[in-house]
Amino acid sequence: MSAQNIDILAIETSCDETAAAVVRNGREVLSNVIYTQIALHTVYGGVVPEIASRKHIEKINYVVQKALDDAEMTLDEIDAVAVTAGPGLVGALLVGVAEAKAIAWAAKKPLIGVHHIEGHISANYIEHPELEPPYLGLIVSGGHTHLVVVKDWSEFEILGRTVDDAAGEAFDKVARAIGLGYPGGPKIDKAAKEGNPDAIHFPKAKVSGSAYDFSFSGLKSAVLNYLNHAEMVHEEVNPADLAASFQKAVVEVLCDHTVSAARDLGIRKVAMAGGVSANSALRAAMQKTCSENGLDFYVPSPVYCTDNAAMIGAAAYHEYLSGYRSGWDLNAVPNLRLGEHL
Ligand code: KG4
Ligand code: ZN
Repeated sequence: MSAQNIDILAIETSCDETAAAVVRNGREVLSNVIYTQIALHTVYGGVVPEIASRKHIEKINYVVQKALDDAEMTLDEIDAVAVTAGPGLVGALLVGVAEAKAIAWAAKKPLIGVHHIEGHISANYIEHPELEPPYLGLIVSGGHTHLVVVKDWSEFEILGRTVDDAAGEAFDKVARAIGLGYPGGPKIDKAAKEGNPDAIHFPKAKVSGSAYDFSFSGLKSAVLNYLNHAEMVHEEVNPADLAASFQKAVVEVLCDHTVSAARDLGIRKVAMAGGVSANSALRAAMQKTCSENGLDFYVPSPVYCTDNAAMIGAAAYHEYLSGYRSGWDLNAVPNLRLGEHL
């Protein structure tokens, strides 16, 4: 441990990535180890929670040790142990939480439970040293679609969220329907590059209530209806055109809501995060619309968009500085609310 540096060992097991990282001062990634289980779940067309938990328990010690080795650090030199405590798959979360508690207890280090979404948004601090709250955050992942004001390091005001499917869920379901397989996001991203985004017009979903809420299940149904209709009339479907047109509809609504919120609230900085923010069309469109509207735009590199532990270490740093510590009774909370402390 150095006098100035705070080095946090972070663990993330909320879904199908077994991950550990060492992060210095909330911004500098000393190591970032991700064991992805994607290949295991692909045969089932989606994440099987029971299999995810079993694989986490098999890999977690190896992944944590590798994170320490890659950072050339021992547990003694670590200042705190952080872990995703929710939201996520309960059995998967429990593996990380139990591991972090055991390590922190044995090494006599503070324990910090972290919210997964706070982790995603904090991934932006890794490569953007100038980014500080307040700013507008758009988190788009497999389980979440949130538009938030990041008021302070761990203070959030939720402006809008999905009322049904998450953006990533829509990508995954549509990919399955057009036979692209799992995980759908990267497959649609790739297929869309060969397609015409204006080939098929899908309606934009309107949600009553909050102007910033999202709805993706209507769009998913529109894609399924299109496929069913084509089959009935024996019309051939071009999967690339379909992927590009669907993707365009998702990208448009995400960009529109984000820019309107920034304008309405007078916020000049926008940061995007979560697995779907790895999408090439979304990154390009958000960059373009932000610069046209005079907004600074931040997004992590794709490796920090999808699940990883470095983002948990980045979030935990600010919790650490604020004095927040989790107790030895820390538990996994599958539906943990953003901003809620354990
Ligand atoms: O953040 P993440 O790794 O896990 C959750 O917290 O949910 O997000 C996973 C989601 C999946 O739905 C996946 O299909 C989507 O992110 N995703 C993408 C891309 N890469 C991953 N969606 C669109 N385009 C991509 N390139
Ligand atoms: Zn995630």
